Amino acid sequence: MKIAQFAAFGRPEDVLRCVEVDDVGAPAQDEAVIDVLAFPINPADLLTVEGRYAVRPPLPARLGAECVGRVTALGRDVRGLAEGDLVIPLDRENWVQRKKVKGAQLVKVSANVDPLQLAMLKVNPPTAHLMMTQYVDLKPGDWLIQDAANSGVGHCLIRLAKAAGLRTVNVVRREGLADELVALGGDVVVVDGPDLGERVRDATQGAAIRLAIDAVGGTQVVRLGDCLAEEGTIVNYGLLSGENPQLTGHQTVFKRLRLTGFWLVPSLQRMAPAEIRSMYEMLAGRVAEGSLHVPVEATYPIEEIARAAAKANAYRRTGKVLVTPNGTPK
Ligand SMILES: NC(=O)c1ccc[n+]([C@@H]2O[C@H](COP(=O)([O-])OP(=O)(O)OC[C@H]3O[C@@H](n4cnc5c(N)ncnc54)[C@H](OP(=O)(O)O)[C@@H]3O)[C@@H](O)[C@H]2O)c1
Repeated sequence: MKIAQFAAFGRPEDVLRCVEVDDVGAPAQDEAVIDVLAFPINPADLLTVEGRYAVRPPLPARLGAECVGRVTALGRDVRGLAEGDLVIPLDRENWVQRKKVKGAQLVKVSANVDPLQLAMLKVNPPTAHLMMTQYVDLKPGDWLIQDAANSGVGHCLIRLAKAAGLRTVNVVRREGLADELVALGGDVVVVDGPDLGERVRDATQGAAIRLAIDAVGGTQVVRLGDCLAEEGTIVNYGLLSGENPQLTGHQTVFKRLRLTGFWLVPSLQRMAPAEIRSMYEMLAGRVAEGSLHVPVEATYPIEEIARAAAKANAYRRTGKVLVTPNGTPK
């Protein structure tokens, strides 16, 4: 069977390879074997290959935070699953054609849903959901602001916020995205710039915004801080600019802004298994009813993993890049 791996840290398009390895064999009694139908290429995967993520794995390394798979074989102790079920594995190393997973690590999802959407369920939707709900007690009608609003997380946040009755200011770095984001339910879309605070105050009639969600870091955080009310909270969850988040002394002392960080891995570790399942069931339900959806720009076979990574790394995309390791999912 085929897997994607890298044997040196570097540019993903240069170092990612599709290699042939032994098949996984039969499952142990507490395991299932799944055929991976699709996986997305996320910024964190690309950073891992570049050696710039939180974890630098020993080389050669497999990778892949998420996927959707179909159960092809089951150990006798695995409960609640049947062959043919679609599942989301909660473990990593998902850029493979086939894998063995502990039954306890699998979340069953509806078989009648677009597998490409399900492949993107594990990481970005809960990231948006948890950042929206865990830091500031927002009530219907309240505002939040986010940057990189046309990203996968950004799409999820707009849709989840809309469903919760919250209003969103969506900051993007280029023109031409407003119609799409407003159609999803975004209330205000603004292109980033030095006068961001002023333009956001105008667009929201001076609303007191208490939560900012930041994937960019650097001076973008200062500009988000300009949009916030006193004692507002900034949740940083990515460093797309490659720069550390910044605030001014005026913002920390006189405005008393709070800057904190979100990482999904420890957030899930803190949750009880039943809580994790119920969150994913809620999010999968949204995907199934079509109220949670992330655009897809392109899909590639696993043999073209380097080309797929180059496409994902180019940004200014119209959607996510996914790989379908066992051909177009049926
Ligand atoms: N902390 C966590 O647990 C966690 C979980 C999930 C995701 N994340 C992070 O969330 C971020 C978004 O992930 P995703 O999967 O949603 O991304 P994605 O769908 O692949 O989209 C990437 C987004 O980043 C924007 N972007 C790229 N470089 C930028 C820059 N220098 N300045 C401003 N915007 C930039 C792109 O804008 P253009 O379209 O203009 O190129 C696009 O909107 C990433 O940083 C990822 O690592 C963190």
